[in-house]
Amino acid sequence: MTTTTDIIELSERHSAHNYHPLPVVVREARGAWVTDVEGRRYLDCLAGYSSLNFGHGNQAILGAAQEQLQRLTLTSRAFFHDRFADFCAGLAALCGKDMVLPMNTGAEAVETAIKVARKWGYEVKGVTPDHAEIIVMDGNFHGRTTTIVSFSTDPDARDGFGPATPGFTVVEYGSAEAIRAAITPDTVAVLLEPIQGEAGVLVPPPGYLRQVREICTEHNVLLVADEIQSGLGRTGDTFACQHEGVVPDMYVLGKALGGGVVPVSAVVADADVLGVIKPGQHGSTFGGNPLACAVGSAVIGLLNTGEYQARARELGALLHERLRALMGHGVIAVRGRGLWAGVDIDPSIATGRQVCEALMRHGVLAKDTHGSTIRLAPPLVVSEEDLNWAVDRLTEVLEELSAALPAGSPELAGR
Ligand SMILES: Cc1ncc(COP(=O)(O)O)c(C=O)c1O
Repeated sequence: MTTTTDIIELSERHSAHNYHPLPVVVREARGAWVTDVEGRRYLDCLAGYSSLNFGHGNQAILGAAQEQLQRLTLTSRAFFHDRFADFCAGLAALCGKDMVLPMNTGAEAVETAIKVARKWGYEVKGVTPDHAEIIVMDGNFHGRTTTIVSFSTDPDARDGFGPATPGFTVVEYGSAEAIRAAITPDTVAVLLEPIQGEAGVLVPPPGYLRQVREICTEHNVLLVADEIQSGLGRTGDTFACQHEGVVPDMYVLGKALGGGVVPVSAVVADADVLGVIKPGQHGSTFGGNPLACAVGSAVIGLLNTGEYQARARELGALLHERLRALMGHGVIAVRGRGLWAGVDIDPSIATGRQVCEALMRHGVLAKDTHGSTIRLAPPLVVSEEDLNWAVDRLTEVLEELSAALPAGSPELAGR
C-alpha cells in the first residue's frame, strides 16, 4: 500500500469523514518541506495549523524527545517527575505568570480555562453559584468539545450537537463596546482569540485588545486569551496580545507548545486565578507527562532566544508586502500579522479550495477556510527564498485559474 490513490481510498473507507483533506499523502518532512509517498515535494504553508512553528524535524525538539523517550515517558500526575518543574517554571516565566496547568490538546486547555474562570467567579468574585457567564466572540474557534461548540457561531461546528452548554454570551468580534454592553454582575470572563485564525485570520481593529483589557479590569472580569494558534512566535512576538502591550489574566496555549511532536497544551495564570483549582477538581492522565514536558521545555528554550519571533516579524513583512501586490490580481483582501496571512480570493475566479488544490499541484500546501479564504502560515524556519517561491506559485495559480475562465468573465481584465 504505497500509492496516493490506494491510501486515500482505504482512509476514506475506514475513517470518519470529519475532515476534507487535500489529496496528498505525506510520508516525511524536514524544515518547511514535506515529501509525499510518490516522492513529490511540497512547501508546507499550513504548518499543522501553526503547530510546526519551529519546523518539521527541528533538531533541538527531536533531540529532547529522543533523550526523554529512552528514559521516562509517563508517570501520570499521581507522582512528580523530574521534567515537570522546569517545564512549568519555564512556561510561567515565558508568560510572566505564576502557575501552569498542563493539558494535551487545545480544546482541553480551553475547557480548563472555562472551568477555572467559573470557579474563580464563584470563589473570588462572589458570583451566585451556577450563574457564571462568559462573553465569547462571533466567529470564534476554540475547539470541538460539546461545551466549546455550544458557543460556536459556525453552524457546521455547532448544529446537531445540542443541547448546548449554557453560560455563554456571544458578541461582535472587534467591538469593545459590545463587550461592555454584555457585561453583567455574573460575568466572569471574556474569552477571545487576539487574532481569529479559523475565521480567516481576522485581526481586530487597533486598540481593541487594549480597550478589552481596560473593560475587564474595570469590571473585575478575567481576560482569557486563546493564543493556541496566534501564540508562540507566529505573529512576530511571543504572544499576539503583546502587539498591543496587553497582558491577559489567562493564556491558553497549545499547538506549537508540543513542537509538532506531541500534543501539549496549558493554561497559564497567576496564583490568585489558577489557585482556585484544588486536588481532584481537574486533571488529565497525560497532561504534563515527562515526554510532553521535555518537548515543551525545548520549545520554551527556542522561544527564549527570540530568533523565531524575529523571523516571523521580518519574513512576515515580506509575505504581506508580496501578498498585497496580488490585490486586484485575483486577491481581494489580505489580513494577518507576522508569518500568518488570510488571503481572500476573488470568488469570480475560484473558490479557496480550488486555489489550494492548484497550489498543491504546484508544490505548495495550504488550506482554505470559509469558502474563499486561503491561509498561509509556513513554519517560521522557512527561508526567504522559499517564501518568495510560494508567493510566485500563488501568483501563477491565480493567473492560470483566471485564464481558464470563459471569455468575457468580469475577472482580472483591466484590473
Ligand atoms: C484558537 C484555537 N483554539 C483552540 C483550538 C483547538 O485546538 P485542538 O485542535 O488542539 O483541540 C484551535 C485549533 O485550531 C485554535 O485555533
